[in-house]
Amino acid sequence: MSEEIIVPKGLANVVVDTTSIATTGASGNLLYRGYRAVELAEKKSFEEVAYLIINGRLPTQNELTPFKNELNSNMVIDESVLKIMNMVKEKNLMRSIRSMISLYPYKMNDDQSTFTQMEAKMPLLTSYSASSINGTPIKTPKGVDFSQKFYSLITDRENKNWKSFEKLMILYLEHEFNASTFALRVAASTLTDPVSAVTAALATLKGPLHGGANSEVLTYLSGIENEKDAMKFVEGKLEKKEKIMGFGHRVYKKRDPRALFVREELRKIAPTDQKFVAAEMVENYMFEKKGLPANVDLYAAVLMDYLGINEMFYLPVFACSRIFGWNAHYFEQLSNNKIIRPASQYIGEEEREL
Ligand code: CMC
Repeated sequence: MSEEIIVPKGLANVVVDTTSIATTGASGNLLYRGYRAVELAEKKSFEEVAYLIINGRLPTQNELTPFKNELNSNMVIDESVLKIMNMVKEKNLMRSIRSMISLYPYKMNDDQSTFTQMEAKMPLLTSYSASSINGTPIKTPKGVDFSQKFYSLITDRENKNWKSFEKLMILYLEHEFNASTFALRVAASTLTDPVSAVTAALATLKGPLHGGANSEVLTYLSGIENEKDAMKFVEGKLEKKEKIMGFGHRVYKKRDPRALFVREELRKIAPTDQKFVAAEMVENYMFEKKGLPANVDLYAAVLMDYLGINEMFYLPVFACSRIFGWNAHYFEQLSNNKIIRPASQYIGEEEREL
């Protein structure tokens, strides 16, 4: 047996493979294929950045148009999936999306087109699952761009604010070896198909320590009216040794550049919003007490609330964006594959006689 290497629990700081898709960088900036994610969010469209993540470079106009057309033409849901969705009526939106995506596609092509289909269908699966749960009529996407259409599917607001939503979608696109991406790469390393690998990633993203954090933020922010409330809330949680959702990160120990970007976006569009003001108060006090910075989910929740998006959609928004990152990771894993199969340190009984 070869020599065992014991690594820190949770694989903290353990480098398990190489990637050229994204890095949190020595500077603490999140880079997508070498570009600062926050700069891309300010200056590029969701489709341009998704193309960059998948293909390694920004598209020319001649490449962007067919990429957008492919997404648009696949934004339809099969009647049979709709039927199953309405039969199952799963109350938890993420469980519904995870189950419904696992039905796709009927003809397996283990190539880019399978991912394109899933990416295009995810916003519809999100919106239709919600309609099925709430008993409301299904919506038709409005607009031209991917994020604009998605926004129209999950809010009743006039979609003039969809550009702020698009920026958030860009910041959720990719984040190197986070838990769901790693789960996808483990699945891909066994040479399973893209749909199965994405199902594993969705199941992992759903957990409250990962993607599920953003939907728990509003609950506590709603009750915070002033500094005293913020202090009381933070102290209460820390005393009970409970985690406050929207804070802390495995990689960003000083600042999450995505959180700073979304916070400043909110300062521009909603400086007096109660939840925004409350979030800043909690952030300041949390930093003073525990030295922990806010992560993207704190301000993402406030932004989506301001944009009229119901809490039930927060995690699916993350998923509908991150699937493009999973796409790039699936093929990167296959391009230089070795099955991911770690070892364990056995602490159970030694051989016993029956
Ligand atoms: N609230 C209170 N204390 C915290 C928090 C928090 N949100 N996060 C970390 N800590 C404390 C933790 O208790 C520990 O304290 P001590 O050293 O006194 O025991 C210290 O900070 C280190 O934390 P850790 O849990 O060892 O850090 P980790 O790298 O294992 O976990 C994390 C990272 C994101 C799972 C964790 O910070 C957490 O649970 N945060 C809340 C959930 C959350 O907001 N998740 C979204 C992450 S960003 C989106 C994404 O990529 O998924």
